[in-house]
Amino acid sequence: MKDMNRPKVICHMLTTLDGKIITEHWRNEPWGNDYDSLFEKYHKTFNAEAWILGRVSLEKDFSGGLQPEPIEPEQPIKREPFIGDPDAKSFAIAVDRHGKLGWDSNEIDGDHIVELLTEQVSDAYLNYLQKRKISYLFAGNEELDFKIALEQLANLFPIKTLMLEGGGHLNGSFLNEGMIDELSLLLIPVADGTAQTTSLFEVNKNQLKNPASLFKLKDVKQVEAGTLWMRYSIQKTKNANG
Ligand SMILES: NC(=O)c1ccc[n+]([C@@H]2O[C@H](COP(=O)([O-])OP(=O)(O)OC[C@H]3O[C@@H](n4cnc5c(N)ncnc54)[C@H](OP(=O)(O)O)[C@@H]3O)[C@@H](O)[C@H]2O)c1
Repeated sequence: MKDMNRPKVICHMLTTLDGKIITEHWRNEPWGNDYDSLFEKYHKTFNAEAWILGRVSLEKDFSGGLQPEPIEPEQPIKREPFIGDPDAKSFAIAVDRHGKLGWDSNEIDGDHIVELLTEQVSDAYLNYLQKRKISYLFAGNEELDFKIALEQLANLFPIKTLMLEGGGHLNGSFLNEGMIDELSLLLIPVADGTAQTTSLFEVNKNQLKNPASLFKLKDVKQVEAGTLWMRYSIQKTKNANG
């Protein structure tokens, strides 16, 4: 499925038995701490150069909802990629089609931030990112095209493996476009039971839904606290090049 130049994409997620991903629903239970460190521990086993997250997850878990302070530039800014740190070796990729995220640094835990934008983002926001030395690239006019985004990530940065780490809507967009090569799933022995809450893969109602994808189980291990760590490769999905 992978003959264009793009990073290998491994979706790494932790879900409850009912496939839900919102940890707040159980994290404060007396046993909730047992599962806190699992996601990061198994993330590290992949030695990937980059990870990618949706805007909602980034606001909630990383930027703290910080609002950007756009500054009008003196000259219009061309819609071309900007490299904020040419020496960076590891990357946090932020899916932010409207340019809504605010940052107080150009890295998250040592990983250089690269914003994935559409061309409709204002010059003032681009100027804001440039002043903070945050890299950015464009992958579409109004909607993001992840095929274009992945090709640029592979061409502009030393990224061979990309960890796709949620939330459910971003995962669903990648799945629907046939852009996932492997799945690393930590299945914890917890039943969430909340109705209409985000699951592992969510395809928006306004997106054309492609047929279901078939994965092949490669490995399964019982790890800490009754958790199963399951590794799958993709077997059948939408042809990502078509
Ligand atoms: N259990 C786990 O392993 C795990 C891992 C990560 C996150 N989470 C949780 O997941 C929750 C958030 O998940 P979520 O599904 O609501 O949000 P999400 O996937 O983090 O972000 C959704 C946003 O990403 C952007 N996006 C997604 N698909 C897009 C596409 N095709 N084109 C352009 N932009 C796209 C959109 O941003 P705009 O609205 O700005 O366009 C969309 O609103 C959080 O509670 C987080 O803590 C859990």
